[in-house]
Amino acid sequence: MWIDDTMSFHPLMDYGRAHHQSSRSMADEGPAFEYTAEALAKLEDICSRYPADQRKSAILAAIYLAQRQQGYISRNAMKAVATAIRCSAADVEDVVSFYTMFYQRPVGRHVIQVCRTLSCALNGAERVTAELQAVLGIAPGQTTADGEFSLFEVECLGACDRAPVVGVNDHWHECQKPEDARALVDGLKAHGAAGLTGCHLHVEKA
Ligand code: FES
Repeated sequence: MWIDDTMSFHPLMDYGRAHHQSSRSMADEGPAFEYTAEALAKLEDICSRYPADQRKSAILAAIYLAQRQQGYISRNAMKAVATAIRCSAADVEDVVSFYTMFYQRPVGRHVIQVCRTLSCALNGAERVTAELQAVLGIAPGQTTADGEFSLFEVECLGACDRAPVVGVNDHWHECQKPEDARALVDGLKAHGAAGLTGCHLHVEKA
């Protein structure tokens, strides 16, 4: 579903503004984009799991591979994805603009996403965001000047039973408290993803 600037489902939420661009125009192309040979081989392997006339089924994987390569999904990357899986660039944009894990502009090395949906909101997500803002010195939707961190508020991350949930790149950091914010940022600065100690990683390692 396309959401324009005039639509909002909640008077206080700026749907579609912080995280996604609000124009469907393809005028802003971004840098040239071509999949690397390695990414193309991976994509072909994934496409081979679907009938030949349904390459579009690999759209999420195709977008992920492009984002992993470029760091975000430019308009040119959307077009390359569309060509690779034989669909329209508008189809790709629809998917990119729906999921919060896809970025339409450059982001920091560590992307911190704080869930603001009901379970997390009731358990103090707003205070977690406020503390992260204070520690990082940026507002939601911004990236630190050194390019290390981006901060976003997003909707449900799917781990509601362990709210509040903070996504860090591809990991969930769960049961977060405001006072955990500095340790989270310091751990990422010092150790990258290895510095994450949220229960998601503990559960997976168990
Ligand atoms: S409400 Fe936050 S993860 Fe579902």
